[in-house]
Amino acid sequence: MLQQEIPFPFSESATKAMNWLCDQGAFLTTSADGRINTMTIAWGSAGIVMKKPTLTVFIRESRYTQELLSTSNEFTVSIPDSKNMFTKLLACGKQSGRDGDKIANNQLTLQSAKVVDTPIIAEGTWHLECKVLLAQPMTAPFIDEECQQEHWIEDNPYLCYIAEVVACYGK
Ligand SMILES: Cc1cc2nc3c(=O)[nH]c(=O)nc-3n(C[C@H](O)[C@H](O)[C@H](O)COP(=O)(O)O)c2cc1C
Repeated sequence: MLQQEIPFPFSESATKAMNWLCDQGAFLTTSADGRINTMTIAWGSAGIVMKKPTLTVFIRESRYTQELLSTSNEFTVSIPDSKNMFTKLLACGKQSGRDGDKIANNQLTLQSAKVVDTPIIAEGTWHLECKVLLAQPMTAPFIDEECQQEHWIEDNPYLCYIAEVVACYGK
């Protein structure tokens, strides 16, 4: 077999879940040293890397999330499939966990994950539990001119996280 068996609903629901993620966003939750935080992401892709089912996400270096991730090397992603969550997604994508408890302030519910120590956000529809395989700043040798102009900040790059999906469940 070329690749590890891909857990349901990663293979069957991946396209639907990724559409929701890119369309309105998802909660990416981290925890380290007793601190738990969630932030909104809208960039991500599901696939196979190094024979493992993976989720690749892009987190700017300045995010509080990145600080926690650099210690824990794991995260969960909870993807809602309802527009009802849009206001909360926007709020978690504007506020920083450095300035307050976004989970409590936005009435989000934490629930224990199945494999990793980081909890999920129960309001999501699909949940992916992820362990980081590789973290790499998105710097040259090559970056497309248009991407560079639109997304590049020299001293605050995105870090590309390729993470193994160790559990995946939901709808
Ligand atoms: C819809 C939406 C999508 C976002 N997607 C990303 C993303 O993929 N990567 C990223 O670094 N920031 C993204 N952001 C910005 C972060 O969510 C935002 O900076 C957040 O306040 C960081 O929180 P933290 O400091 O608690 O980690 C997005 C924001 C919104 C509203």
